[in-house]
Amino acid sequence: MPNDSGSVPCGLRADVAESALAGLTASPKTLPAKLFYDAEGCRLFYAITKLPEYYLTRTETALLRSLGRSLLPDGLRGAALVEFGGSDETKARYLLDLRDGRGEPVFNTYVPIDVAEAALTELRRRMAVSHPHVTTVPLAADFMTPLRLPPLGRHRLGFFPGSTIGNLDPGAAVGFLAAARDSLGPNAWFLLGADLRKAPEVLLPAYNDAEGVTAAFNLNLLRRLNREAGADFDLRLFGHRAIWNADAGRIEMHLISTRDQTVRVAGRTIMIARDESIHTENSYKFTPRILRDTASAAGWEVQRAWTDPANYFGISLLRHA
Ligand code: AVJ
Repeated sequence: MPNDSGSVPCGLRADVAESALAGLTASPKTLPAKLFYDAEGCRLFYAITKLPEYYLTRTETALLRSLGRSLLPDGLRGAALVEFGGSDETKARYLLDLRDGRGEPVFNTYVPIDVAEAALTELRRRMAVSHPHVTTVPLAADFMTPLRLPPLGRHRLGFFPGSTIGNLDPGAAVGFLAAARDSLGPNAWFLLGADLRKAPEVLLPAYNDAEGVTAAFNLNLLRRLNREAGADFDLRLFGHRAIWNADAGRIEMHLISTRDQTVRVAGRTIMIARDESIHTENSYKFTPRILRDTASAAGWEVQRAWTDPANYFGISLLRHA
């Protein structure tokens, strides 16, 4: 069994300057969405999850709360919960708190995997207090890199909530699910939360809220590069834009330059034209069919799927195909 002595360093540390430069020298310009989550970015994302327009978190949370044990495969016990991109245990708690028919906790091990190392330390501290019977083994890693999980028992459930899968292009989503299947090992299960396609009138405000929290979240990426990638972005010279790309089935977030400008990044000069975009995030929205095809291309089969009454958000239980 894994011990509980601290976080396991795993994979490479994201090299902020390098990945920023790669995106900013490409055409069109991009920045990787995973760079959003520095301390301030995590705080702003948390604020986003509380916004009236951002239905995702509250809808998924209501599903987790109300579905409880029916989300889990029968017979799961002494199990490990492996959360991909889990920098806080708020959603995992709904699973970690579940008990089997004999009143025993279903899970005895929790492996949250996230790049936000500081958040993992805090998470582990909280878990030790609230769930002393659960061995928490945080992995500070980019869940997109090949992972070596600590030794786990026979019963393993991957957990990827929040529609984080929507940040991945279709091929990468299949690649991720296939890699997760490999690292979880034979006969594991996987619980996947995915935002569903719906009217742009509902989708767009979720990414362009009235208070401007999402705009601040988007712009914070530039502030992070100023601090960590030797950049000198003037945040006042960029605007937040969210669009619905119907062909690709995704919300896109962009930072739009309000004028011709040059920016220094890690010793390089980047020219940015007026109205030019830096594409910072894709957030794919799924249909049940796309979810099924994505899962099956990765060697998984959708065993069950649930959604809320408005069909806003879906949770799927996957098993090895
Ligand atoms: C955490 C990736 C699910 O795409 O909805 C929120 C991130 N971006 N507002 C999403 C996000 C803008 C979020 N995910």
